[in-house]
Amino acid sequence: MPEDQPIGVFDSGVGGLTVVRELLEKLPHEKVVYIGDTAHVPYGSRTVEELKTYADQIVRFLIGQSAKLVVAACNTSSAVSLDYLRQQYTLPIVGVIEPGIRRALSLTNNFQIGVIATETTIKSGAFPQIARRFNPQVRVFGQACPQLVPLVESGELEGMRTEKTCRGYLEPLLQAGIDTLILGCTHYPFLQPVLQRIVGDKVRLIDPAQETVEEVKALLHQTGKLNPVREGCMEHQFFSTGSSVSFLHVGQQMVGKLVQKVEQVNLG
Ligand code: DGL
Repeated sequence: MPEDQPIGVFDSGVGGLTVVRELLEKLPHEKVVYIGDTAHVPYGSRTVEELKTYADQIVRFLIGQSAKLVVAACNTSSAVSLDYLRQQYTLPIVGVIEPGIRRALSLTNNFQIGVIATETTIKSGAFPQIARRFNPQVRVFGQACPQLVPLVESGELEGMRTEKTCRGYLEPLLQAGIDTLILGCTHYPFLQPVLQRIVGDKVRLIDPAQETVEEVKALLHQTGKLNPVREGCMEHQFFSTGSSVSFLHVGQQMVGKLVQKVEQVNLG
């Protein structure tokens, strides 16, 4: 039955687990197959060609796992590969950039929106381009934060080094007068407590996961593939292209027992 098929989710590492967490909270009857491409993390310093190749291999793998829909739970991949993937495959593929922008635009008062993301995402110009499609008046201030993904992947979510690094990245955005800050990398919601402390309560942090899951739900509903309420608990599957031991360790640190077992796969 199509509704029994899993939702495929991918990222360069543990970041996409922020989307899985939200997905399973809102759609608890769905099964998830997740793959963290840790052999190639961080994506933020990869070329567009490399990222398209990785995305292609991953989507093929997820289709092989019978995915009924794929979530590119990675802003970097969404920024440079989403249109390409949608041309290559017929199954629905959901990205995280547009949902984050929609949410930010619904909450901003002064239409000065900040985005923190990887270098590749900022360079792609995807955030300002898409935001202006929705509202030509909006001003988007982007800040590349290359040191944040390694901090998250190593589990360093708090402490002096993390605080100082985040502060350095956020200072220019605060000076620009933003009232809304999009966490434009799925790793960053794990740093939310530090980030919120630095920006204060006048700046609203946007985790695109919520809006992304709304889009997934609507798409599954439209196509008749939403899993109806069921008894019993789903066995989700987690894969990594790098060490499964370290993915399991960091993954459990981030989202607890949601990640029970990780299998290493080679997609090359
Ligand atoms: N979490 C990903 C993103 O949303 C990728 C980060 C990286 O590997 O550099 O962009």
